[in-house]
Amino acid sequence: MTDTSRKILVTSALPYANGPIHLGHLVEYIQTDIWVRFQRARGHEVVYVCADDAHGTPIMLKARAEGIEPETLIERVREEHEADFAEFHIGFDHYHSTHSAENRELAGEIYRALRDAGHIATRTIDQAYDPEAGMFLPDRFVKGRCPKCGAEEQYGDSCEACGATYSPMELQEPVSAISGVTPESRESEHFFFRLADFEAFLREWTGSGRLQDAIRNKLEEWFEAGLSDWDISRDEPYFGFEIPEAPGKYFYVWLDAPIGYMASFRAWAREHGEDFDAWWRPDSDAELYHFIGKDIAYFHTLFWPAMLHGAGYRTPSAVFCHGFLTVNGAKMSKSRGTFIRARDYLDHLNPEALRYYLAAKLGAGVDDLDLNFDDFIQRVNSDLVGKVVNIASRCAGFITKRFDGQLAAELPRPDLHQAFVDEGEAIAAAYENREFAQAMRRIMALADQANQYIDEARPWVLAKEPGREAEVQAINTQGLDLFRILIIYLAPVLPKLANEAAAFLREDDLSWTARARPLTGGRIERFKPLMTRIEGSTVEGLLEASKASLGGGEAEASGATGDAEPDPAVDPIADTIDFDTFARVDLRVARIEVAEHVEGADKLLRLELNIGSERRQVFAGIKSAYAPEDLVGRHTVMVANLAPRKMRFGVSEGMVLAAGPGGEELWILSPDDGARPGMRIK
Ligand code: MSP
Ligand code: ZN
Repeated sequence: MTDTSRKILVTSALPYANGPIHLGHLVEYIQTDIWVRFQRARGHEVVYVCADDAHGTPIMLKARAEGIEPETLIERVREEHEADFAEFHIGFDHYHSTHSAENRELAGEIYRALRDAGHIATRTIDQAYDPEAGMFLPDRFVKGRCPKCGAEEQYGDSCEACGATYSPMELQEPVSAISGVTPESRESEHFFFRLADFEAFLREWTGSGRLQDAIRNKLEEWFEAGLSDWDISRDEPYFGFEIPEAPGKYFYVWLDAPIGYMASFRAWAREHGEDFDAWWRPDSDAELYHFIGKDIAYFHTLFWPAMLHGAGYRTPSAVFCHGFLTVNGAKMSKSRGTFIRARDYLDHLNPEALRYYLAAKLGAGVDDLDLNFDDFIQRVNSDLVGKVVNIASRCAGFITKRFDGQLAAELPRPDLHQAFVDEGEAIAAAYENREFAQAMRRIMALADQANQYIDEARPWVLAKEPGREAEVQAINTQGLDLFRILIIYLAPVLPKLANEAAAFLREDDLSWTARARPLTGGRIERFKPLMTRIEGSTVEGLLEASKASLGGGEAEASGATGDAEPDPAVDPIADTIDFDTFARVDLRVARIEVAEHVEGADKLLRLELNIGSERRQVFAGIKSAYAPEDLVGRHTVMVANLAPRKMRFGVSEGMVLAAGPGGEELWILSPDDGARPGMRIK
């Protein structure tokens, strides 16, 4: 090993306690876990902590809807999360909750330090208040017409049609998504973290190699836009921690969420008699890394380092952002069955197959990555089963049957062994830099070489020739020796398979340095298949099961917004209208002739609809739920006499009807077979 032992504290983002772990989350936990296992194999001291993010309005409301206390809800979800992580071999040293004594203590302490240093401001703001529910409403819980373009059913923070941003009370005809009543504007005193106090510090901090280029560029934009005060308080009722010396005021969930990293570490440190401060004081020689998705970079690269610095703690050594997972080329979608929960995956497939596939796709950047199931099956079968495990199954039979498990005393090709060992440096560098895809390519190239060696040495031919026993034993020993080195290289990705392989080889040291020692002279156990091929039908089964288990249609945090305040599940019924009013709406069956992406629009697809007598262009906010190619040729329902609306991208001549709260949970209406374009719906 070249570098001396390091002390490294690693975290993954804390998943919200109101929904299950899904494959998108797993990109992050698997990426982090691989890196952690790699660092351990290199002999470093690593502590990997995480926790459930348990606070906020959605969790409070979800518990209410289930008629239970939030504490009961978060306890149940935490058990589910921990079980999912364990089965995916995510090896946390400690898994905590933000709703914990340690976190309350630290959040209070950090807040007081910031306040006493003058970094907290208070002022009175106007906010939407639901008199029926008796609570202030988060922006996403108010809906109404966009004040700029008039689009219906927009959230209180921004318009999906024209991109305008505004405050909830600026919406026309706003309604509360909780009770359906018109919210009032009410005053309330709020607490703000004065981020701008830290501008000079942050410019310094972000400029010193701690962030990926893409993120640094994003930060430049944020600096340019100006660092504004951050509202860190919420009024009761709220599920969270009450702010010290401020009865009825609670910390906003994002204030105590990152402090949850420290709280989890503190709980671990107490259990292990470790000195918390040694890892967290400004001059600590420990390293601190946060793995996160790019959606939550703002919190981790501005607020969080500023909070830590302002309260007298060390700041992160680096923040590592990853991109988002898509499935079969599109955003994960509940209707297509590609919004896959960790649990459903585990019921059908081997967790290590996903670990390997994601490793084979992950780089150090923030690009999104796609889980394509055909590619997944092909990669896992051909690389792991066909190349790696195959080496062992080819060689083990000879050693077991002909030599009673006894390996040769010497390798016939020490140069080949050495070449495999030498490649370990480049593979380690790739792991260290989070270039896992590159590491996997190098490992598979070695696996090809090992197979090629065996092909050329042809032990099965020699085995038939008298007097060549020793050669046969030596060739197969060499094959198993190369296999062992590959297993050491793959162990961070495939911890379970690696342990089983180690047991079979009777070699329990899988550390990076152990690879240099040749596998000679010992005995091996009988070989058992280490991994089996994935069948297409198994994947089909998963997608079907996935569709079925999401049938309930309850809203879940997708993680895509990161604002902790997703839309609620229930839409109130609107006020009554008379029949004439209804009859004035001209609804038509439409055939979607063209569907395409709109340059520069996040949510919109451009549709051309055939309604018999004419063709209409409609911009529909359904991009997150549908890929254009899935729409062409389908029949749907449109409002044909809606006044045309000029949008940034062109004129929209009507509206397509769809159900669902939005985002990926959106389903366009389709008439039964037999309905033809232009037919009126009555
Ligand atoms: N609770 C916050 C994080 C607080 S950290 C102090 C949160 N939770 S989350 O459950 O929505 O997401 C947890 C992590 O999973 C985030 O880093 C998020 O970016 C990541 N992902 C969630 N969905 C994802 C994909 N579809 N693809 C890749 N990562 C995704 O945000
Ligand atoms: Zn608008």
